[in-house]
Amino acid sequence: MHLLIGGGVASARASPVRSQKLPNGKRGKKVPPVRLVIENLEPKHSEWLMLEYAHACTLWGGEITFSNVRDPKLQRALQKLDGVHVSSRGVRELDIGDGVVLDPKAGKPLTTADCKAFDTLIVGGILGGEVMRGRTRELLTRRAKLPARHLGAIQLPIDVAVFAARAIALGAKLEDLEFTNGLTVRYADGMDIELPYGYPVSGEKVIVTPGLVDYLAKHWGEEE
Ligand SMILES: C[S@@+](CC[C@H](N)C(=O)[O-])C[C@H]1O[C@@H](n2cnc3c(N)ncnc32)[C@H](O)[C@@H]1O
Repeated sequence: MHLLIGGGVASARASPVRSQKLPNGKRGKKVPPVRLVIENLEPKHSEWLMLEYAHACTLWGGEITFSNVRDPKLQRALQKLDGVHVSSRGVRELDIGDGVVLDPKAGKPLTTADCKAFDTLIVGGILGGEVMRGRTRELLTRRAKLPARHLGAIQLPIDVAVFAARAIALGAKLEDLEFTNGLTVRYADGMDIELPYGYPVSGEKVIVTPGLVDYLAKHWGEEE
């Protein structure tokens, strides 16, 4: 799937892609019937991470706890977001009731019934990698000794995993949700950026984390 950004990198900033935002569902937004915790597993604040975290909060529509946040800069940035609780303690130290990890390597898909049966869904606060190396399983599912569910075979960014979890918690089936199998962001000046992640497809539109296309135009290739 290609996302074409007209007018080169500079004007990509001036002309945002109309499909960039997921519907924020402000009209009659429902709160999912299950708690959401994002267990931060990134050691420090980064702009890309904050774009995904901020979008996850907008999408979820209820309160979110960010656990295991040790970096003071990241704590401060998260505390500015609406409906967010920030803890330096990890899920193993918090009282989350019956929790289930969203883990690409899980054997079973997440269902609406799971979202009623469990008290808490746990998403890994892990930025994606070129290849899915099972970091969620290693750093979260196994360490916390929790059951796990998948959201399909494609690696989803944090905010997209939250989008999918919310849809399923509110009654959708995983197979009803459509995702790209990777995404090429093609800028008019010839630069292509390959993102090996799934982004939601809605009709003809691909929905990308707000701010990410501009961020990549300015910072692609830099170490954060
Ligand atoms: C960008 S993914 C990080 C995946 C990580 N590179 C790995 O190898 O496990 C961020 C988080 O979103 C959730 N997630 C992403 N894709 C998922 C999938 N297909 N199934 C279940 N959870 C997923 C997981 O909680 C994961 O920790």
